[in-house]
Amino acid sequence: MNTRLIAARVLSRVLQDGQSLTAALDNALQAVESSKDRAFIQALCYGVCRQYHRLDFILSQLLDKPLKDTDVKALALVGLYQLKFMRVKPHAAVSETVLATRKKPWAKSLINAVLRTYLREQEGLEEKADKEQTAAASHPEWLIKQIEQDWPEQAQKILLENNQQPPMALRVNLSRTSRDHYLQALMDKDIAAVAVSFCPSAIMLDKPVPVDLLPGFAEGLVSVQDAAAQLAAELLDVQPGHRVLDVCAAPGGKTAHILESQSQLKELVAVDIDESRMQRVSENCQRLNLQAKLVVGDAANPEGWWDGKPFDRILLDAPCSALGVIRRHPDIKLLRRAEDIKPLQALQKNILQAVWPLLAPGGLLLYATCSILKQENEQQVQVFLAEHDDAVELSIEADWGSAGKCGRQILTGESGMDGFYYARISKQ
Ligand SMILES: C[S@@+](CC[C@H](N)C(=O)[O-])C[C@H]1O[C@@H](n2cnc3c(N)ncnc32)[C@H](O)[C@@H]1O
Repeated sequence: MNTRLIAARVLSRVLQDGQSLTAALDNALQAVESSKDRAFIQALCYGVCRQYHRLDFILSQLLDKPLKDTDVKALALVGLYQLKFMRVKPHAAVSETVLATRKKPWAKSLINAVLRTYLREQEGLEEKADKEQTAAASHPEWLIKQIEQDWPEQAQKILLENNQQPPMALRVNLSRTSRDHYLQALMDKDIAAVAVSFCPSAIMLDKPVPVDLLPGFAEGLVSVQDAAAQLAAELLDVQPGHRVLDVCAAPGGKTAHILESQSQLKELVAVDIDESRMQRVSENCQRLNLQAKLVVGDAANPEGWWDGKPFDRILLDAPCSALGVIRRHPDIKLLRRAEDIKPLQALQKNILQAVWPLLAPGGLLLYATCSILKQENEQQVQVFLAEHDDAVELSIEADWGSAGKCGRQILTGESGMDGFYYARISKQ
């Protein structure tokens, strides 16, 4: 099947049905045999999501009235994306995209006209897009406002970073090998990479590579994980004999890292509400040969799964807006709505309150999100501290991110990392 048509159908699932790009792509790519075609479809889909608000503005300038057919609209966006952002020859981009209208002959002349007019009027259209805020930043208006409100000085940089392709970062399994040895193994395979100075397990690759080309991946020597997410294990400060609770654990990146970093835990209990995502925790643990007690349950209702024994450490990697990982999931800009934030904030608060009694006196809870919004981060923790006399914040002194009113925030792109937030709360 025509690769542009597959990409347009994937985008249509996102735009019309609200499906995540990862799920829609995984599904569509199963039927595509050539790895070159798969890479092209992926580049089109991620690219269109990253540039959606710009491309959509330009498309609106090229049409008399909005396109109701989402498949055809998605195809027009795929066409425009190639012309503006890819090195595909313009005549090939136009003719191949027009060919993809085969099943909807009525759309053939429309797509043809849109793409050819764009090529003729490109300069003027792009100038117009540069003057329109949502198009210029390629973000929805509510999100631009929200980022400007929370981070007035850094907002422009955050918006730019959100539209970049993120680096591929690896977590070396330090219980099996050293980072220097692994860097050498990468060098032997001509994979260029550097160590991340402030995170002992992290490596950043110059260019992304398929995981099956990574030495020792199947044997568990290494995992793919952003450096910001790798900071959790160290901040949790797990010691031999500890009972650790990892709430909201799936797909298990941090679960595995905690287990790799301390082989003498008494027990690690990993809880997540989503059974299918929990399956991925199980697969990750299997590949890495790690043991955890996996529980499918609601973190906001521990009565359903807690055995009554306190934990020395709790990691709460809370469900959040994920606005710190837009680089990796650009469909967030299309799917997330301003009104999603308050319910997420309420859920975070519920879970935080519900798991606090499970922590032993003297124990430590690490609150984490992959968000850059203050409501989900420092404001959430501030309210919690004010409402709990037995909770004390332990400040995080580090050479990454920046300290806020409480906790520490990494803004998207800082030191190449995803946007992340951490706060350490100890129990008196
Ligand atoms: C940010 S992700 C966790 C990522 C994970 N800690 C890791 O490092 O791989 C948030 C998780 O919270 C889970 N979740 C959402 N609501 C929950 C609830 N009420 N109880 C337990 N888990 C929940 C989601 O299923 C999702 O897997």
